[in-house]
This record gives sequence, structure tokens and C-alpha cells, in this order.
Amino acid sequence: MENNKRKELKVSAIRNGTVIDHIPSEKSFQVLRMLNLDTYSNQIYFGTGLESQKFGKKGIIKISEKYFADEEINKIALVAPSATLIEIIDYEVTKKEQVHLPEYVEKIVKCFNPKCVTNIQDVKTNFRVITDYNGEMKLACHYCEKTMSKENIEFK
Ligand code: CTP
Ligand code: ZN
Repeated sequence: MENNKRKELKVSAIRNGTVIDHIPSEKSFQVLRMLNLDTYSNQIYFGTGLESQKFGKKGIIKISEKYFADEEINKIALVAPSATLIEIIDYEVTKKEQVHLPEYVEKIVKCFNPKCVTNIQDVKTNFRVITDYNGEMKLACHYCEKTMSKENIEFK
């Protein structure tokens, strides 16, 4: 009993809000920053480098009084595809799902091609989500047709 207790991960429960679980440990801070949570004023619990059976090490972020819109969820899916998004209402888990990418990613990502029209004129970006022959996720720009790999993704 004592022993079990010590092994268990204990981070406070939240009353209302969202839990982002199963973030790859090395992405935890990036997820925190890209969702602008560094300037959020309600309660946030943040853990990284936590033991996880499935992932080795994982990060978890619990954000009180916050439910994410699709654009923010797409950002999470691009950076941390293994993440689970959990919605909490009145202490109860009301929704729990792994994030997933849509067929198209609009607006949130910059094209890495400096000559692309989206970097010259005020045009909303649009990328098709594709999987290359190695099984790697890539984004294909609708305008310049260049293909961007994960490492080149920069958010607007
Ligand atoms: N959680 C929370 N506040 C609540 C309810 C749940 O912060 N009021 C968190 C839990 O700490 C957990 C996640 O939301 O990290 C999922 O909750 P739940 O499904 O109850 O936990 P488990 O069954 O342990 O889920 P899993 O095995 O998928 O981690
Ligand atoms: Zn482009």
C-alpha cells in the first residue's frame, strides 16, 4: 500500500477545464508556449519528465477554465500527435480522445518557402496533411506546392 502510493503520479485534479496528457516529454515546454499558457492567469498544473508505461517519459498540462478550439487542437496534434485531450466538467471526465490531424491545416502554420505568395501577400495559408514513403507526416502547401517536414513547421 505505502509502496503503491509512492509510485503513483499525484497531480491535483481540476474542477473545470482541459488536461493534455501523454505529451512527449521533450515537447512539453513547446506545447505550453505555443498555446500561450505562459501568460494564462487561471490555475495551471504542469508536469514533465514523468514516468509513463507507454511513452517512457511524458508531460501533462492541466488548464483550469479552458477548452480549446479546433485551431489550438490542430497545433497540439502537429507538435504532439500522441497527446490525449481530456475535458473536465465539475471534476468529471466528459471527453477523452487522442488528438488527430485534419486533412487540411489552415491559417495556423507559416509556409517555410520565403517566395511563397502566403509570405508576400496577405493570404491565409493552407496545407494538405500527407504521409511520405517513410510514414512521416508532412504538410504540402496549396500555393507553392512545397512540402514541409515536421522540423520546419513554424506557427503564425
Ligand atoms: N483529471 C484531472 N481532474 C479531474 C479528473 C481527471 O486532472 N477532475 C486528470 C487525471 O489526473 C488524468 C486524466 O485527467 O491525468 C484522465 O482522468 P481519468 O480518465 O480519470 O484517469 P485514468 O483512468 O487514470 O486515465 P489514464 O489511464 O488514461 O491516464
Ligand atoms: Zn507555400
